[in-house]
Amino acid sequence: MQTPALRNSTAHFEIEGGRPLTGEVRISGGKNAVLPAMAAALLTPEPCVIENVPSIQDVRFMTAIIESLSATVEQTGEETLVVRADSLTESGPPGSLVSNIRASFLTMGALLGRQGEASCNFPGGDVVGQRPIDTHLAGFAALGATIGVDGDRFTAQAGHLRGARIFMDYPSVLGTENVMLAACRAEGRTVIVNAAMEPEVVFLGEMLNRMGARISGAGTHSIEIDGVGELHGCTIRVIPDRIEAGTYAVAAAITQGDLVLREARPRDMDALLAKLGEAGVTVQELPDGIRVSRSGPLRPIHVQALPYPGLATDMQAPIAALLTQADGTSYIHERVFDNRLRYVDELRKMGAEIITVSGTTAVILRQTALAGSAVRALDVRAGAALVLAALAARGRTSIHDIYHLDRGYARLDEKLRGVGAAIERC
Ligand code: EPU
Repeated sequence: MQTPALRNSTAHFEIEGGRPLTGEVRISGGKNAVLPAMAAALLTPEPCVIENVPSIQDVRFMTAIIESLSATVEQTGEETLVVRADSLTESGPPGSLVSNIRASFLTMGALLGRQGEASCNFPGGDVVGQRPIDTHLAGFAALGATIGVDGDRFTAQAGHLRGARIFMDYPSVLGTENVMLAACRAEGRTVIVNAAMEPEVVFLGEMLNRMGARISGAGTHSIEIDGVGELHGCTIRVIPDRIEAGTYAVAAAITQGDLVLREARPRDMDALLAKLGEAGVTVQELPDGIRVSRSGPLRPIHVQALPYPGLATDMQAPIAALLTQADGTSYIHERVFDNRLRYVDELRKMGAEIITVSGTTAVILRQTALAGSAVRALDVRAGAALVLAALAARGRTSIHDIYHLDRGYARLDEKLRGVGAAIERC
């Protein structure tokens, strides 16, 4: 695989707005599904074949993390990876790699389950507010691990993991996944109460079950895991990226276009599709995807980002971009992270009339004609919001720091050009 690109890459997007997007986009495998799958492969010495892997920077970061543990990641097809962890030599990845992505912390649960010890630095990731890891550590401790901390490096050690009833103080997605990874190898039954219900958690449960784990209840608030002595290799296809699909759905809506999102799974996107419908966007389920179009005006709406099955926080900024085109005042409440409205200042540079009432509430005052400007992507979804605004804006927008977008959107510019956008990577 390619080496991770440098964060200070100077590439930027130039977008000439005002063109309705029409045609078909294939939705790639999910970023937040493939990363836990790669970590899960560390639980077995046998190869795990992961199909439908998106071509994104976070996969390259995770590849480097897995390779630092002496496992191998081989790309055997355009979208297929084989992870082999037959001879692990380390208790955890080096801090320099961990700072790249938050999902790096999933190596803790997998290595703790596999070899009874693990270490990892406090993980990096997008700046969207406080991102503690107390639920992860409390889960490991409940399974019998002794947690240590030296500077910002955590260690977990357990001669013997024992199943336990674990209450998650918050239904953290990665926290739930981390505890699932470790608990697969614990003796006896683990019950995770107040577990995250995201489709990516369900997907991880499916992969682990294919590897021989005994997990039930993933997708509900109570996940039961009966520990097993060993896990084996498997072949798994990554579920489609519901956030990528949602972003293209908004692209169709904001440009008054008509897009077929091939392979998108409407059942993972109930909240978003309902909200789009409420705003006047036409959504049609297809046997193999979703069709999204808009011909009439957009109505203002109230949205709140919540844990699944509520509206995904990762869609909050893209929807705000859309609502700058709604005919009236819309309200946004971010209820998952405490600092995920930083993109508002960038949208204002394009003419949007938005005020933030607090770190978590924004009011989009009225419909405004957006105009091309020079803006910065501050994180992956904030960057997506700017791309969407630029597609609807008059004139040319330059979006800088697009390495954030490359972390999570496979071939974004290529896919957008394929449906009529004027976007260039410069
Ligand atoms: N939280 C705690 N304690 C913890 C962990 C989290 O209080 O131990 C709180 C956080 O402070 C936050 C909330 O829980 O307020 C949600 O955090 P969560 O742990 O669920 O987020 P995450 O697992 O770190 C994943 C995704 C994010 C996505 C969130 C919420 C991955 C790799 N990341 O992060 O994705 O926003 O769930 O759905 O799966 C993105 O793709 O752009 C992205 C940021």
